[in-house]
Amino acid sequence: RFDSISLAPPDAILGLTEAFNSDPRADKMNLSVGVYKDAAGVTPILRCVKAAEQKLLDGETTKGYLSIDGLPDYRGAVREMVFGDQVPADRVAIVQAPGGTGALSVAADFLASQCSAGPGKPMRVFLPTPTWANHNAIMQDAGLAVDSYSYLGSDRRTLDFDALISDLKTKPSTGDAVLLHACCHNPTGVDPTPDQWQEIASVLSQRGLLPFVDFAYQGFGDGLEQDAAGLRTILENVDEAIVCSSYSKNFGLYSERVGAVGLVAASAQATAASLSQLKRCVRSNYSNPPRHGAAIVATILADSELTAMWKDELEEMRLRITSLRELFVAGMAKQPGAPDFKFLLDQKGMFSFSGLSPMQVDELKAKYGIYIVGSGRINVAGMNEDRMDWLCDAVADVAC
Ligand code: LMR
Repeated sequence: RFDSISLAPPDAILGLTEAFNSDPRADKMNLSVGVYKDAAGVTPILRCVKAAEQKLLDGETTKGYLSIDGLPDYRGAVREMVFGDQVPADRVAIVQAPGGTGALSVAADFLASQCSAGPGKPMRVFLPTPTWANHNAIMQDAGLAVDSYSYLGSDRRTLDFDALISDLKTKPSTGDAVLLHACCHNPTGVDPTPDQWQEIASVLSQRGLLPFVDFAYQGFGDGLEQDAAGLRTILENVDEAIVCSSYSKNFGLYSERVGAVGLVAASAQATAASLSQLKRCVRSNYSNPPRHGAAIVATILADSELTAMWKDELEEMRLRITSLRELFVAGMAKQPGAPDFKFLLDQKGMFSFSGLSPMQVDELKAKYGIYIVGSGRINVAGMNEDRMDWLCDAVADVAC
């Protein structure tokens, strides 16, 4: 009976936004969920998106169902963006999915149903420590066995690469999956260097481990192509991989839920069979994906002017986040006795692990209405130039 159901804890990230929304303070600030805000504090609709929507409105002729794997033009655009011409088309299957989370969930269902760690044993997936707060639940709910590998060092600022490589060499067994953040690691903002990617790729290849890549922030690190460099290195070394991509952030299409699973297999035959099984996972879950967000992405990427506009707008967001990092670090440097936050300048993407303790995070919320994820993860993209002094005063108050 339902009377015996116990209350679930609030979500570590979205639960904070719920709390933020019901906080009556006018000067509150939400630095929790990974959403970009412009200088006016608004999550903008990109100009290229508005233009694409106008085109769609004028030209749309049907609201009929999409096929199970989604809009063909969108899938083609995703293939191009994620894989370029690195992998032959007949070895890549693309399935449209509702956001990056939906993509991870479809991929996890696929792995749980099609692969195993031996008779009666679920496949294992190794997650970095730390990782996005939702990875664990997605993998477990799909029925995968979850384990971990080292990522962030004990300084909580830099990659512990020796521990990472040592774990990848010893903990997983052949056939296990290793979840990697392609760029802009969530929650730390700490990414491997090109040489480190090369070493990771060699270990994955030597040990027969499956790269399971979460690619949610393409364009927010060093640029669109640059952010795919780690993935390209991996794909040079292995013949199977799964890449879950999201267009929530780089097209600002958060609520439209636009993502994709890209699966690379060793042969055309294995690709076709895998695609058929991915489609089975979609069909039994939500049947087929929604059209609008994917149609926006496809429309933009099919039009050279809109594509150029999109690249400019994405670059504008990326550079502004970098300048917010710089402003925050400079602002904190002026606070007597405050910790040195210079390490934030080496971190990439929307997030940074601030080093603030759970108690300091609680104090920021209680005293100032500043919402930060309990781990100390700050969404830099939620900061604001005009309120930087206020934010630095508040952080200094709890951290000094
Ligand atoms: C985040 O990490 O804040 C984003 O990926 C949004 C989410 O769904 O958690």
